[in-house]
Amino acid sequence: MRIDIITVSPDLIKSPFEHSIIKRAINKSLVEVHFHDLRKYALNKYGKIDDYQFGGGAGMVLMIEPIDKCISQLFLEREYDEVIYMTPDAITLNQKTANILSSAKNIIILTGHYKGVDQRVRDKFITKEISIGDYVLSGGELAAAVLCDAVIRLIPDVLGDETSALTDSFQDDLLAPPVYTRPAVYKGLKVPEVLLSGNFPKIEQWRHDEAVKRTQNIRPDLLNKSNT
Ligand code: ADE
Repeated sequence: MRIDIITVSPDLIKSPFEHSIIKRAINKSLVEVHFHDLRKYALNKYGKIDDYQFGGGAGMVLMIEPIDKCISQLFLEREYDEVIYMTPDAITLNQKTANILSSAKNIIILTGHYKGVDQRVRDKFITKEISIGDYVLSGGELAAAVLCDAVIRLIPDVLGDETSALTDSFQDDLLAPPVYTRPAVYKGLKVPEVLLSGNFPKIEQWRHDEAVKRTQNIRPDLLNKSNT
């Protein structure tokens, strides 16, 4: 998979790709991530990429021309499955969307800044708009990093243990059950007996029941979707 990220702050977004699972996925060539500094496509030598909004109002708006130049250049080089715009005024990212995107070949992610982008960018180039939650960040960079992390870990062979993505929270519209590790007793706090029993069907049943209980308590809205 190839991900092209268009941003006005490349340094802000690079770090999450330099650690842990994502870094390993890049090193194993399971994913390629390219950062494009929008200022390279600026209108003038002062790096102009934004302007005041027509009709008045606070905040600068990213202009269409630099974005058009950057995206058009990428389109000349290859085809893309999706051109995604990170914005709070969109549908919220969930595991299903991450699953679908993990099988894409090439995607572009455009990160907004200031007051957003000229609507004509959204109308002409964007195929999918994604928010990471009902709150407003200073820019789309951190949101893009969240999206990339959620997607990249689902690409086959990225996780060492294939089953660990399948048992993540939300894969079956349930939150994940509790997990424990050594010691079996810590200052009187005990690990549930069943987990030490070696009876794997019983353990699986316990995990499922705990996942349902946890979901009922914390996110009952998810249970309406699941077929438990
Ligand atoms: N940009 C600013 N806030 C955002 C959010 N919540 N999700 C995606 N992109 C954003």
